[in-house]
Amino acid sequence: YSLKKHNTFGVEACARYFAPIRQMEELEELLIADLWKSMPTLVLGEGSNILFTRDVDGLVLKNEIKGIAVIRETADEVWLKVGGGENWHRFVMFCVGNQYAGVENLALIPGSVGASPVQNIGAYGVEVKEVIEKVVAWHLETHELLHFSNADCAFGYRDSVFKHAYQGRLMIVWVVFRLSKHPVFHTEYAALREELERMGVKTLSLKAISEAVIRIRTRKLPDPAKIGNAGSFFKNPQIPLAQYQALKQQFPDLPSFPVHADSVKIPAAWLIEQCGWKGYREGDAGVHSQQALVLVNYGKATGKQILDLSERIRQSVHERFGVWLEREVNVW
Ligand code: EPU
Repeated sequence: YSLKKHNTFGVEACARYFAPIRQMEELEELLIADLWKSMPTLVLGEGSNILFTRDVDGLVLKNEIKGIAVIRETADEVWLKVGGGENWHRFVMFCVGNQYAGVENLALIPGSVGASPVQNIGAYGVEVKEVIEKVVAWHLETHELLHFSNADCAFGYRDSVFKHAYQGRLMIVWVVFRLSKHPVFHTEYAALREELERMGVKTLSLKAISEAVIRIRTRKLPDPAKIGNAGSFFKNPQIPLAQYQALKQQFPDLPSFPVHADSVKIPAAWLIEQCGWKGYREGDAGVHSQQALVLVNYGKATGKQILDLSERIRQSVHERFGVWLEREVNVW
């Protein structure tokens, strides 16, 4: 079964077995069979944060559990239970349309709702951890339904417990979001403020923010339907303050965002661009010309070629700046 249409990099890879899951009960029934016990299992959402470098000689479970339901409501807040297989952007637009605040800055992020807590998706000053009340997941080996509170998820920058202790062991069936009916607008991110200004927005609204984010993303990030990619390939490295100060002496233009008193986040895109990779192309694998943090597949690149390119980028950034980039995309 070809996975080419199930990964936004658009690379070729095959699964021995492929099962779309529309309801949790289907998962329960399917996994009882002994057949699966001896083979690897991979849970896939919309495949927007994965790079296949080989076939899956086992079972691919595609999360297609849908539904958005209000499960509790007060004058100030609303709790929504959302199927893991819902499209993330569709969910954001549902919230904006209903005046539920909290996810408007996360418009147009590719992928599914079930994947959103795994890497704690974030953009333009907001992370999804701020609005997650609970994550409900099916354990593929013990066949139990697990409930994770926000604290249980151990969220960090593009990180959670689902990337560590539970990696590859769960399917996230629902996420419960807690959203506000009284918006607090997040416009700390300079690019977002500038876009709102360009749009001539006088009074902020959820709609205006989501539109501004959509405009920035459409301009800067390649559309996976046209050029294969999985968003940022690496995380922005967080380095100790002393290391930052030494680098800043050598490279006065180095941008930074404060994280703690003793550490600083620096943009991986800047480091990569400085090493001359922006717009680089080798066969069909390349580095996006508008955003150096995004690796792209112009058509027929293999996962292996993209991974090799990413490793050479890591090496060169390390040689020049002494910083090792960490991957954000999952590699199979
Ligand atoms: N920059 C360059 N060259 C480039 C692009 C950017 O030097 O080609 C520098 C600039 O100094 C710029 C800075 O990098 O100010 C930051 O760039 P940008 O605002 O585009 O954001 P990013 O750090 O590259 C992060 C997230 C994105 C998210 C944006 C917006 C990570 C790994 N990536 O990217 O998330 O959309 O901020 O908030 O944290 C993703 O995770 O897949 C993703 C796209």
